[in-house]
Amino acid sequence: LASTEVDLAPIAEGQAITVMWRGKPIFVRHRTADEISAAQAVDVTSLRDPQTDADRVKKPEWLVMIGICTHLGCIPLGQAPADPKGEFGGWFCPCHGSNYDTSGRIRKGPAPLNLAVPPYAFTTDTSIKIG
Ligand code: FES
Repeated sequence: LASTEVDLAPIAEGQAITVMWRGKPIFVRHRTADEISAAQAVDVTSLRDPQTDADRVKKPEWLVMIGICTHLGCIPLGQAPADPKGEFGGWFCPCHGSNYDTSGRIRKGPAPLNLAVPPYAFTTDTSIKIG
């Protein structure tokens, strides 16, 4: 399928789901207020791949990313409640220890780039179409 529709309504605040789009895992996280403020508070000039949180989301509550580590392509942990989320509260790649923040930006470890944001649009207040 070229595009994937995702109903966001069942995803509670603090929860994340993984959907597939063009054979790739897409992470969709319903961020908490704390996760949003942590992402917005970062000094962008300190980042390896400088992007503001606003550059990466369409609505602050919803972070949508391709769940593939930009180092060598492992799938980072951080989607399940029990997963390690790394030192910056986002995702942790167990292959070589890349740590991503609550905006999916690389903060520590070997990955060169932030987790990529796929093309998507809100089709209603509570649904998105990826691709
Ligand atoms: Fe993720 Fe190497 S593939 S840190």
